[in-house]
Amino acid sequence: MEIGITGVGHTQFGKSEKDVGDLMLEATMGALSDANTKIGDVDAIYVANFSSGFESQCHLPAVLSAKLGVDKEITRVESACAAGGVALKQAAIALESGLYKNVLVVGVEKMTGSAVDDATKIIAAAASKQEMLHGATFPSLYALMARAHFAKYGSNEEHLAKIAVKNHKNALSNPLAQFRKEVTVEDVLNSKVVASPIKLLDCSPITDGAAAVLVSIGGGSSGVNLVGIGHDVDSINIYERKNIASMPAVSKAAEKAFKMAGINVGDVNVTELHDCFTIAELIEMEELGFCKAGEGKNLIDEGRTEIKGDTPINPSGGLKAKGHPIGATGVSQVVEIVRQLRGECGERQVKDAQVGLCCNVGGSGATAVVSIFSR
Ligand code: COA
Repeated sequence: MEIGITGVGHTQFGKSEKDVGDLMLEATMGALSDANTKIGDVDAIYVANFSSGFESQCHLPAVLSAKLGVDKEITRVESACAAGGVALKQAAIALESGLYKNVLVVGVEKMTGSAVDDATKIIAAAASKQEMLHGATFPSLYALMARAHFAKYGSNEEHLAKIAVKNHKNALSNPLAQFRKEVTVEDVLNSKVVASPIKLLDCSPITDGAAAVLVSIGGGSSGVNLVGIGHDVDSINIYERKNIASMPAVSKAAEKAFKMAGINVGDVNVTELHDCFTIAELIEMEELGFCKAGEGKNLIDEGRTEIKGDTPINPSGGLKAKGHPIGATGVSQVVEIVRQLRGECGERQVKDAQVGLCCNVGGSGATAVVSIFSR
């Protein structure tokens, strides 16, 4: 694959006064300016977005067209929290087909206008209706996965708390992060219970934000290139999964991405993965192959997933502390990896990073996109 990431843009994550249109516009202009190009050079745009439920607006291609003042081929891509990763894959397919030369991928979600109870219901639309009938919400589904992981592998609440502590610490040096506040293991363990064993500080927050990347055919030796991408979708029902403490879609997507890139997990220097709840980070690091199933807790205890460790994970602060504007998240992960590979991340920079990986997950692990970048 010969695809370069030629520009990246990213709004502040958190609570924003801007509407979805202005958030998309800000991220788009950021990516165009970074690429030193103009909207006239962009052939098509993919907009990643989860739900019209938050803002009562689903026709985002037309909203963006109005904001940009241009007529373009703009397509909205929905795939729950993995919308950004799937939109990137669609852009890559379109470029490889020869249809376009420059494609913009813009992810956006504006969530804070909804009360938390309403937001929880809107987000639960990405879960199984059958499981929802039994009271499932995303925090409670991930709580079940955590309980299963604890029982099967001997992990515990403290391992999850250490993930939150690391990601909050990393976000301190990310000016675009929603929470720039250090927390301790005790803070996490003593925070209010959302769905036991998941507590407030194990959760990603409700966030507004947008991110954009310009992807262009050709790539080049001096920039950052997309070298592999894999996508997989599993059943929406977690009860159908043989092992609830696993996300088979992640390992299948990773296998495809590594095969396309012609590298293996040991070659990855920096990773942004989908820690919508801390247990998701633990399961995904195992599914990606950084260790065997059940051994993720050792990597956490040994500090290996810290920025200075040998397997740095979520230097941006992850979804936990950077924030999780659902449709924007997969694109935001790519922005961070591109900035890491360019060496632009200051205090949170992973030293000498040459190869980076993004793992974007939808629902409780049903959709996964793994993308690999190198410079
Ligand atoms: N992490 C850290 N702090 C958080 C937080 C989080 N996830 N969510 C809220 N806070 C902070 C707020 O900033 C606020 O701090 P303040 O008192 O200093 O202002 C305080 O905690 C209370 O905030 P509030 O909005 O009242 O919390 P809440 O109980 O209404 O909502 C959650 C908390 C965890 C329920 C909500 O953030 C949530 O639903 N998160 C999950 C979102 C989700 O499911 N995403 C999709 C994943 S698949």
